[in-house]
This record gives sequence, structure tokens and C-alpha cells, in this order.
Amino acid sequence: MKGVILAGGLATRIRPLTLVTNKHLLPIYNKPMIYYPLEALRDAGIKEVLLTSSPDHSGHFANLLGAGEDFGLKLYYAVQKNPKGGISDAILLAEEFCKNEKVAVVLGDNIFKFNLKSIVEEFDKKEKGSVVFGVKMSSDLNQYGVIELDNQENVVSIVEKPENPKSNIVQTGIYMYDSRVFDFIKQLEPSRRGELEVTDLNNFYLKEGTLSCKVIDWWIDAGTSFDELLRANNLVAEKVKQGEL
Ligand code: DAU
Repeated sequence: MKGVILAGGLATRIRPLTLVTNKHLLPIYNKPMIYYPLEALRDAGIKEVLLTSSPDHSGHFANLLGAGEDFGLKLYYAVQKNPKGGISDAILLAEEFCKNEKVAVVLGDNIFKFNLKSIVEEFDKKEKGSVVFGVKMSSDLNQYGVIELDNQENVVSIVEKPENPKSNIVQTGIYMYDSRVFDFIKQLEPSRRGELEVTDLNNFYLKEGTLSCKVIDWWIDAGTSFDELLRANNLVAEKVKQGEL
């Protein structure tokens, strides 16, 4: 199974921090933000990762991460021409890289501790489908995709940034897809904010009945606001000092 990390976007919500630097290069306690998703894929047993970023910043990632040898994986790069094309637009860049293999996608600003290894192994054996990861949140649900589950933990709906969220489970930026994902992306239309949305992509699998959801313990999207960036720094510092990270 291949890995993809998305590190594009404009990060307008945390300007001026991101006026000249890419968000994913900002520090989270003692490491650049991008280290966390990279280490998560490595710890999941994935050996080859494609990192996508915007034209202005791709070289910065290559300077920092090189060919991935320090992380024990092979790292490749792709440039997303339109840095706001959307998450699905960026995933599409991995079509050649993935060939006919399944893919695990992690958003470059996602910080979490959950070890994906067993789920990667389980998913790799499946014929087809997709896995999304949810986390319980108490506020700001309308900043995220929101996942509604039934009593048996089956996904009933996923809605992007809903005004009236139907649950308190937020869609994280960790996704696993079978090799048909690129055909599905090619059928997507840009959303109202002009992006090819990951939620629309996940809804293809939901309609087909092949989408499953795992709820994880703690997770932060460090890029949503100054407060979440600060919270990520404090939480990681605490966990490092407690020997949990
Ligand atoms: O973090 C979880 C949330 O991520 C989910 O709950 C939402 O369903 C999903 O749509 C996404 O929401 P955001 O609006 O927060 O996504 P954002 O624009 O912040 O982009 C997320 C990451 O993807 C970020 O690390 C930058 C990267 N990205 C984003 C876009 C739009 C790209 O690499 N290229 C892009 O075109």
C-alpha cells in the first residue's frame, strides 16, 4: 500500500504565519508539523510516500526531507498547480504513483498518536472500499466534515462543514482508498468553495456501501486556527514529556 501526504493549500486562516512559509513547516513543539504525518505513515508500515505541495513550497520540503532516508522510507514529490484545488484534486496527483495499489492519505497538518498499522494490514486484504477516521469533538464542528454513525457504527452520512451537525464526530484527515479512487475523483465537480472535496469523494464509497469508519482517541488539525495550532503545540509538549510521543 502506498502513502500520500498533502501539504498544499494557502493556510489563510493562520496568516501572517504562512505568508512566506508553508503551514506544514511550522513547528509543533520540537518538530516541523510535516514530521508527524510522515512518521505516522512510516509507523503504519508504509514504505513509499508521495508528498504533494504548492509550486512555491515544494522545494522547501525537498530541502528538509530529501529522499526520505532519515525516516526509513522512500519519499517522492508532486506539485499541485492550484494550491486550493481541493483535497481530492491533490490526491489525484498520486494516480501514476499508486498504479493499482491501495493508498493511505494523511493531511499534512494532522497530529495524532493512533497507530494505523493494524488497519492498514486489514484494509490491504480487502477487495475494495474506503476507511475514514472520526474523532469526538465538543465544539467548532462546523469547521470540519461531520460523520453520522448508526448504533452499529455504520456510516449514515458525512457532511462537509454543516450548519447543523448531526453528530459530534468529526472526519479527520486520515483516509484509506482502493485503487478506484482516481476514477471516482475524475467524476467530482468543484464545491461551492471551488474545491474538489474529500467529503464528496467519501460519499461515493458511502453510496456504494463500502465505506467504514474507525473512531480514534485524540487528533488535532493544527491548521484550523491559531488556537488549534497552540493547542497542538501544548498537547504534543505534554505527551513528549510524559513519554507518550
Ligand atoms: O482536518 C480535517 C478536515 O480537513 C475534515 O474534517 C474536512 O472534511 C476536510 O474537508 C478538511 O477540511 P479543511 O477545510 O480544514 O481542509 P484544509 O483546506 O485546511 O486542507 C486540509 C489539508 O489539505 C491541509 O493540510 C492542506 C491540504 N490541502 C488542501 C487543499 C484545499 C492541499 O494539499 N491542497 C488543497 O488544494
